[in-house]
Amino acid sequence: MRYSLNLLLSALLLLSLPCATLAQSTPPVLVDKVTSATPLHDGVEVHTTSGIVRITAQRDDILRIRIAASTALPEDASWAVLPASRTHTVDVQPQQDDVSVGFRTAALDLRVERDPLRIVVRDLQGNVLSADAPGRPSRFEHGGFTVYKQMAEGQHFFGLGDKTGNFDRYKQAYTLWNTDTGVQDWSDPIYKSIPFFLTTTAGRSSGLFLDNTWRTWFDFGKQARDAYAFGAEGGPLDYYFIAGPTPKQVVLGYIYLTGTPPLPPLWSLGFQQSRYSYTPESQLRQVADRLRADKIPADALYLDIDYQYRNRPFTVDPQTFPNFPGLVSDLAKQNFHLVTITDLHIAHVPDAGYAPYDSGHAGDHFIKRADGSEYVGVVWPGPAVFPDFTRQQTRAWWGNLYTEFVKDGVAGFWNDMNEPSVFDGPGFTMPIDNIHRIDEPGFATRTATHAEIHNILGMQNERATYDGLLRLRPNERPFVLTRATFAGGQRYGFTWTGDNNSTYGQLRLATQMLINLGLSGISFVGDDIGGFGGSANADLLTRWVEIGAFNPLFRDHSTKGSMPQELWVHGPEQEAIRRRYVELRYRLMPYVYTLAEEASRTGLPMVRPTFLEFPNDFDGMETEFFFGRSFLVVPPPFAEMPEDFIVSFPKAGWYDFWTGHRVVSDAPPVAANIVAVANAAAAGVAESTFPQPMKLHPQLDTLPVYVREGSIIPMQPLVQSTNETPNGPLELRVYPGEACAGSLYLDDGHTLNYQHGDLLRQGFSCTVSGDTVTVGFAARQGTYKPWWKSMEVVVYNWNHSKATATLSGSSTVLKTRYDAQAHALHVSLPDVAQAAELHLQ
Ligand code: GLC
Repeated sequence: MRYSLNLLLSALLLLSLPCATLAQSTPPVLVDKVTSATPLHDGVEVHTTSGIVRITAQRDDILRIRIAASTALPEDASWAVLPASRTHTVDVQPQQDDVSVGFRTAALDLRVERDPLRIVVRDLQGNVLSADAPGRPSRFEHGGFTVYKQMAEGQHFFGLGDKTGNFDRYKQAYTLWNTDTGVQDWSDPIYKSIPFFLTTTAGRSSGLFLDNTWRTWFDFGKQARDAYAFGAEGGPLDYYFIAGPTPKQVVLGYIYLTGTPPLPPLWSLGFQQSRYSYTPESQLRQVADRLRADKIPADALYLDIDYQYRNRPFTVDPQTFPNFPGLVSDLAKQNFHLVTITDLHIAHVPDAGYAPYDSGHAGDHFIKRADGSEYVGVVWPGPAVFPDFTRQQTRAWWGNLYTEFVKDGVAGFWNDMNEPSVFDGPGFTMPIDNIHRIDEPGFATRTATHAEIHNILGMQNERATYDGLLRLRPNERPFVLTRATFAGGQRYGFTWTGDNNSTYGQLRLATQMLINLGLSGISFVGDDIGGFGGSANADLLTRWVEIGAFNPLFRDHSTKGSMPQELWVHGPEQEAIRRRYVELRYRLMPYVYTLAEEASRTGLPMVRPTFLEFPNDFDGMETEFFFGRSFLVVPPPFAEMPEDFIVSFPKAGWYDFWTGHRVVSDAPPVAANIVAVANAAAAGVAESTFPQPMKLHPQLDTLPVYVREGSIIPMQPLVQSTNETPNGPLELRVYPGEACAGSLYLDDGHTLNYQHGDLLRQGFSCTVSGDTVTVGFAARQGTYKPWWKSMEVVVYNWNHSKATATLSGSSTVLKTRYDAQAHALHVSLPDVAQAAELHLQ
């Protein structure tokens, strides 16, 4: 749902008016002078002329800073930070002198300068990592606060979730207030609020997380040249400083605070087809049949709001979907998982036999107006009420609403409109003085205004769905897709970037949004492939599908009234290219799933900016991205233009994924072909020479993809859905080079049995010595039985046609085949589950 920006701006202006009036009456309270200080075993507490500052070391590299303009700190509770991470601290060494008071940890030196009061964080070498801006003390006013930090010229800023605008947030300003506005190049605020950013200056990265759910804002030097600032309209001044020095350490520190995502079901990593809306059911069946007939692999189909009776969540329209359970089971027979939308609003239809309203009303589950009556606002069903997801009993009630759908076999659920979007509400949401009744472990049981809860409502909606599904199907991994969320929302499922448009500009923006989401802790992300609004032209959709094959969520979705956007709509030639990329996604599924498991264990994003893998490599960061550590994907930045473009290679050796050839640094640009590569040995280029930036020519059927040297990529035979068992060997593509390693993770793909060891994990390595390549297999861990009986190892950069291949402990010479074109040696071998070495010479 989208609204005009002007309307939105005027609404926001109206909302901010009371502050302007207040400004004339109340002077700001400045945090500008230390009056006394008390060392703590894990930090320091400082009293100021106006209040209190408490800084604790949560870890040696993470500090928590709490400031209040009164004698006591506010309630210590959080929707975002895990209780264990919030309460755990480390001992520090206190330090103080005439000018400052503070402490040291094993990684940081924290000083609070006394007068004027400035918080300064250094590393142990004395480099300033973060400092309050000179002459700009933190201030409390109008019920909110502002903090100013020193900023260097050209300092980089990333994160804040999927904000639009520039990829690097430097010199940009943003508001965090979940809003259903649609994605325009510069629209702000949008659907999510993640008050975390990562910043890099002078080769050192750090992060800052403002744990505040109110309307917050960040200004990265738009107003001032030498300072950045952040603040909130209310709530606690409570933030975490996370030291790097690498960007990866910062992201991991933020994940330590806010948690890892759950391992998703395997099917959710397959191709997904959606549309607003497939109705009646025959339309959905046709899409299912066509995908199978055209052999476009796919795993999930979506039902948008029109499957419901009068847009009422948790109903099915009996006219258009007369046999819903039959439909779900027929689709399952075709190996499709069905995902249905369940918006958070409940139609306000008392006494009409609509159980979600009746039971919600009886249980007193809905958000109240300031006067205590049930708040009613208009959304898709017309007048609607809104569950108060800040109450655990309301979340439990919500979870039970899924009972019938789960019984019918619906595989996943889509939580939309949960900013919340209210068509007739102020600022397209509900009044900020609406009342929530917090009932949540760790929080005081109290009421809170919507101003405090607004930004977390979507996340708590997602959480209620996730927890409910887990209760209803205790050993199945839930799949939840949400539009609105908050910091920590990664704990409950996937998100997508909302209503984008079918333009090349939005395709460029989409990748940047996904990267920034990943840096903000949310790994399982996607965008509407092909664009939601408008109609994608043939080339645009093809390009979008190519890139989507390297995104975590791979879902084609489009709005009513736009041209159909299924992969076949522009004729067989375009369809063939698109199919090839969907097929590649399925061939790569062992790599993709291994990557997803890593994301669920560590929180590291699947889609990564160049600088996450190569700290301080900011070249090409606006368009290029890593898919895991091994793939460098280089979409042409202006795919609509025929001009050549430059690919910048991070400092490593690279292979062209399509040809298998090593990329050589001095290869002349080949304008008519993206394959501007040659074989390293043939060109006589030393192994250690890293490729320089190279000119490529955009070709519709080829997305430039490179593999980092030292990668071992597991692949599988093609299947039409993840339900199918692949038939053939597990393939291991070995790209020799520095630190050569790879890994493989596998389990049953849908239960939680992996938590009890029913999984398969195996590491691989490779070394090159003279003419010999050795591929190492670590002993396999876990009890899960693989689908393959044999393996095929493919070693690239193999430059002689003859080869002898043997496995340690056996004298049998293995079958090999040389692919002269790819300079690759194929070796067929039995399944290797124990520690072993494959010798090739
Ligand atoms: C919102 C969603 C979109 C969905 C539509 C109808 O605009 O963002 O994905 O199709 O609502 O439910």
